[in-house]
Amino acid sequence: MKLGKLLYTVLLISLFHALDVRAENSFVVEWPPDTTFVENEVISIVLKVDRKKLDMIRVGSDKNDSLLFSLGSGDRACFGITLTKGLNSIELFGLKKGTVVERKNLRVFFRSALFPKFREAPAGFVRYFFHAGDNETRCAGCHVMEPSLSSLRPGKPEKSPCFTCHARKCVNSFVHKPAAQWMCFTCHEVLEAERKYTTPKPDQKVCAPCHSYQLNDWKSKKIMHGPTAVGNCTLCHNPHGSDLPDLLRMQTTDLCVNCHQEKASGAHVIAGFYGKGHPVRGVKHPFKADREFTCAGCHNPHAGDTQNLLNHDISDMTDYCTLCHKM
Ligand code: HEC
Ligand code: HEC
Ligand code: HEC
Ligand code: HEC
Ligand code: HEC
Ligand code: HEC
Ligand code: HEC
Ligand code: HEC
Repeated sequence: MKLGKLLYTVLLISLFHALDVRAENSFVVEWPPDTTFVENEVISIVLKVDRKKLDMIRVGSDKNDSLLFSLGSGDRACFGITLTKGLNSIELFGLKKGTVVERKNLRVFFRSALFPKFREAPAGFVRYFFHAGDNETRCAGCHVMEPSLSSLRPGKPEKSPCFTCHARKCVNSFVHKPAAQWMCFTCHEVLEAERKYTTPKPDQKVCAPCHSYQLNDWKSKKIMHGPTAVGNCTLCHNPHGSDLPDLLRMQTTDLCVNCHQEKASGAHVIAGFYGKGHPVRGVKHPFKADREFTCAGCHNPHAGDTQNLLNHDISDMTDYCTLCHKM
């Protein structure tokens, strides 16, 4: 680049910069801290705003093209956004009469144990917990932060002390029974110690009181599937809700091939019978009319009596195939 052009570019950049920061401190990000990592898709952003300096907030991120939030009453702007897996660079713009008066950037990493790529947060990213320390005191002026005894069984979602801030947790096509009734405390412990609302680990401890029938059945089998054996239920299931049946975090075949990539084509089933792989998606289940046929059509994701966790006996391969196929 020629020197003149370079200087011109620098001048332009600084001019834009000057425009951008015309009204400094028109807003402060109260939550979340920069370079935080989370394990859930939806996060809340809380800004402390100076209503004399701005009248609207625009949010641009990888997933949300550009969202506009008008300021309600009070000096806070509270809203939720949806993240993509991995690093999210969230741009926050303070607007006054449509002009940008200030912009800030927030980096949040959405960690997911299911994807090798997103399993580790970048160096320097920290997992902050909201219901810890004195974060809550800043919200207490406008939000109820102390659950009462009646919140154990709120009757209506709106009566739960968790509803104003976590309403979006239970809006999926399938909502887990106890979450649908906003009985959050059946799983989240109200501890006044360092961190409130923790859940015991492994997750299995949380599920056991209500799913002992299934757990006992699986434990009585010869082999338990790796992740189920260690009690890591929420790796595959969202304990609150999902748009997929069985509260699954991902479509079943996609879920399995995260860890069993080499089986993705279904070729292992019919090697020696037929050139192509066996269908593992996009076809109807022969026994469950409303379900898609997936890896789970042949394998049990929890436990089985064979090394391969098969739902059916394969000692006679012809019999096996004719379970589902007319010959
Ligand atoms: C000045 C009052 C005020 C303060 C302080 C405040 N909020 Fe809010 N917040 C509100 C109002 C008003 C709403 C809208 C409630 C509604 O629509 O039912 C809201 C809504 C929310 C929502 C739901 C947003 C959505 O669209 O899903 C979240 C989350 C939230 N607040 C978090 C917080 C947190 C966390 C703090 C403390 C760091 C906080 N708020 C402090 C007034 C406040
Ligand atoms: C003032 C708003 C507000 C209220 C009320 C609230 N939460 Fe939260 N909660 C948050 C925010 C903000 C986070 C951080 C994650 C996020 O952005 O959604 C959070 C995170 C959590 C977490 C994850 C662990 C953590 O500490 O970050 C749990 C569990 C949780 N809330 C449970 C509850 C339960 C149960 C209730 C009702 C008793 C409740 N919350 C009420 C705002 C709120
Ligand atoms: C069936 C048990 C169960 C119920 C009921 C339940 N949760 Fe959870 N929740 C969990 C478990 C387990 C985790 C931890 C998940 C993990 O570690 O991946 C969790 C995590 C969370 C988190 C942090 C991570 C995330 O997904 O956002 C929030 C916030 C939360 N729960 C809020 C709530 C609220 C609000 C309610 C009431 C509507 C509720 N939960 C009801 C089991 C439950
Ligand atoms: C407070 C009791 C309770 C707890 C704790 C609980 N569940 Fe459930 N769960 C239920 C009920 C009730 C149903 C609905 C059963 C039905 O409709 O036949 C259900 C259904 C399910 C289903 C099937 C979804 C469907 O559409 O039928 C899955 C998967 C599930 N739970 C997973 C879990 C996991 C994972 C945990 C632990 C993190 C857990 N549950 C903890 C009560 C509970
Ligand atoms: C490797 C992923 C994975 C893990 C780990 C896992 N599940 Fe599942 N789970 C599934 C899939 C997939 C289905 C749907 C099966 C089908 O389509 O036939 C399912 C179905 C279910 C169902 C409903 C059907 C039934 O069998 O009753 C329950 C309840 C359930 N799981 C609970 C649990 C609990 C509790 C744990 C932890 C001990 C757990 N799951 C661990 C993948 C998993
Ligand atoms: C989080 C990673 C993970 C996911 C997701 C997962 N598995 Fe596995 N799977 C494992 C591990 C770990 C083992 C144990 C392997 C071992 O011990 O060598 C295993 C073992 C198996 C086995 C037994 C074969 C063997 O080598 O012992 C089968 C069959 C299997 N998984 C099928 C599935 C199916 C079907 C799904 C989807 C419903 C699934 N897996 C999802 C991690 C996963
Ligand atoms: C039509 C039935 C069927 C479908 C669908 C199917 N499998 Fe299999 N799978 C089998 C059979 C049968 C075996 C045992 C093969 C053998 O013993 O030679 C097996 C074996 C396996 C093994 C253990 C083999 C080894 O090398 O350790 C894994 C892991 C596995 N399947 C994963 C999957 C995954 C992941 C999917 C979905 C992408 C899937 N399977 C779909 C029938 C099926
Ligand atoms: C648990 C049920 C199940 C078992 C067991 C099963 N299949 Fe399938 N298979 C299906 C379903 C469902 C389809 C897709 C719909 C259809 O074509 O019938 C399918 C499709 C196929 C196809 C593709 C047909 C086409 O038109 O593209 C072949 C080939 C096949 N299976 C071979 C086998 C062989 C060989 C075996 C025995 C090793 C076997 N299957 C065992 C359920 C099964």
